[in-house]
Amino acid sequence: MRLETLISAEEIQSKIQHLAKQIDASIPNRDQPIILLGILKGSVHFLSDISRELWKLGRDCHLEFMQVSSWHGETSSSGVVQIKKDLDSSIEGRDVVIIEDILDTGRTLSHLRELLGTRHPNSLQICALLSKPDARIVNVECEYIGFSIPNKFVVGYGLDFDERYRNLQYIAVFHQDE
Ligand code: PRP
Repeated sequence: MRLETLISAEEIQSKIQHLAKQIDASIPNRDQPIILLGILKGSVHFLSDISRELWKLGRDCHLEFMQVSSWHGETSSSGVVQIKKDLDSSIEGRDVVIIEDILDTGRTLSHLRELLGTRHPNSLQICALLSKPDARIVNVECEYIGFSIPNKFVVGYGLDFDERYRNLQYIAVFHQDE
């Protein structure tokens, strides 16, 4: 097994500063906190860091979480995304930003955008730290993408292999057979 650094911790933090500024500028309403909706488990570090960058910009945020079924390893009939944990509170009239670690086939975020759109938020945006354009099966509109990466298996900064490596501070390509 070998880990090959793809995106350093410094590059991630610098990108997060940039993304937080973009999110701040896109939501003019400062009367209510922005809802940052993290998709468990991979988004935890990204959510944490981006929420603190937004605080530095004077933005209050509420942190919410959802968990959905994994698509990985399935070869067919991937028609339904299962919600394992739904939101605890209403998003009606609120400014919501879905925070994801990675946009892969696009199935998860496409489903979430559709589902959450029916709950009448004031605005609904998606911020994904990573995107693998070559893996896309379902087209999904995504307002913010940190880094576009090759279609390789990556771990770190929330992303796992068999639940390991989520606590790396950087993103690495995982070479299992080396
Ligand atoms: C990953 C990732 C996204 C989803 C993206 O989650 O965090 O939620 O897959 O893939 P897609 O674009 O093909 O739908 P995973 O199911 O591995 O769960 P985890 O975050 O708990 O590791």
